[in-house]
Amino acid sequence: MIKKMKGTYDIVKDTPRFRAVEKAIHTLARLFNLEEIRTPHFEASELFHRSVGEETDIVGKETYDFFDRGGRKITLRPEGTAGVVRSYIENKLHAEAKNPQKYYYYGSMFRYERPQKGRTREFRQFGIEIFGSKDPSVDVEIIACAVLFLRMLKITDFAVHINSLGGEESKKNYEKALKEHIRPHLETLCADCNRRFEKNPLRILDCKKDTEHDALQNAPHPIDALTEEDREHFESVREILQSMDIDHIVDHRLVRGLDYYTHTVFEIKDTLEALGSQDTLCGGGRYDYLVENLGGPPTPAAGFSFGIERLLLTLEALEFTPKRAPLHLYLLSIGEKAKKKTPALAHKLRLQGVTTETDLVGRGIKAQFKQSEHTAARFVGIVGDAELEKGIVTLKDQNTGTEEEVAFENIAATIAEKIKQDRRDCDTCPERKGE
Ligand code: HAM
Repeated sequence: MIKKMKGTYDIVKDTPRFRAVEKAIHTLARLFNLEEIRTPHFEASELFHRSVGEETDIVGKETYDFFDRGGRKITLRPEGTAGVVRSYIENKLHAEAKNPQKYYYYGSMFRYERPQKGRTREFRQFGIEIFGSKDPSVDVEIIACAVLFLRMLKITDFAVHINSLGGEESKKNYEKALKEHIRPHLETLCADCNRRFEKNPLRILDCKKDTEHDALQNAPHPIDALTEEDREHFESVREILQSMDIDHIVDHRLVRGLDYYTHTVFEIKDTLEALGSQDTLCGGGRYDYLVENLGGPPTPAAGFSFGIERLLLTLEALEFTPKRAPLHLYLLSIGEKAKKKTPALAHKLRLQGVTTETDLVGRGIKAQFKQSEHTAARFVGIVGDAELEKGIVTLKDQNTGTEEEVAFENIAATIAEKIKQDRRDCDTCPERKGE
């Protein structure tokens, strides 16, 4: 038997929860007036090397790279930002009058990581990217958007961690301070840290092996290396967040695992302990030089991505189980004549929006009744010779057990009215309140 690949999984029983999250994504996008963008699942490898960064774990150890049959070096996207920026430049979206331009995306990403709870090799991200403004209000807008998304999903056990890396000058100041601090400890740090010391010292703070090493524990804070202007930017961000009652923790060790960040970086951690060690639900921040570094005009930008699987694990721990919308009608037929007529009747009803199932196996009447129970249809419609002659269906209300004869042309309206009534009756019932 051919089995699924390590680190992948099938979504079958969990689709209602997925759909609830997807619905929330599109509702949130409307609230913030975000435009949807869909980019390819694979891109030229160089795109990720030049954006995410050569020395990051993602590019160094985790990408799915291959040559296609035309000899092109290709990578399955490990994240969404690089592709969106490539598309922004290639499609000259910067030339549009609207500013800032705000996009969102949802889809699969691929990283060759060691699978564990909350970490898979194919996973889904929902992300937003805002281009065109360096104002602190954008940093706030992305954090507020991420927080609102969690609130919409009724997730309240989370903590917002933020930090600032500053602009080019501040980052250089920090790299210098960090190198001075790390230099005396180099001999006791791992080979990766030693290589990164020369090439990209900030990445030393990401080291998984030496995370408890004194040199890393006592490393200087990026905030202390900020220029006056960058410090003010960060203070404004915090001030506006406070005015919005968005609690946040300044996390001095937060630098993020991708190279393109500048100024504000943030992560939202689950505090419900539903995720074990993979507790970061969302990560993001500013990346003011990435558009320019990839060949576009200088364009400040900021964004975030949520890991959808981690959200689903959290929702599962909260016992959030959205119900599938019930089937409206199971149409069963008695006798050969009715059997031949039922598909056409079902077809007409579906055209009128009635969700309908019929017997596709050739079952007898008893077995059809049994099936109708398995489908949990709200109504059962019985079509026999007598009904055909009169042009009606015997419609059985499965909630009350009552039966009535309804003319073919009135079935859709009758069902629609009863379902409307169900909703009215249910407005105050606990299931509906908890939706
Ligand atoms: P990231 O921190 O690499 O950032 O990923 C964002 C989120 O994706 C993580 O917080 C996590 O929830 C989820 N995630 C990452 N890897 C896995 C995995 N192997 N399995 C399951 N979930 C995973 C980015 O990707 C940036 N592009 C975010 C961003 C957008 N920054 C600016 N704009």
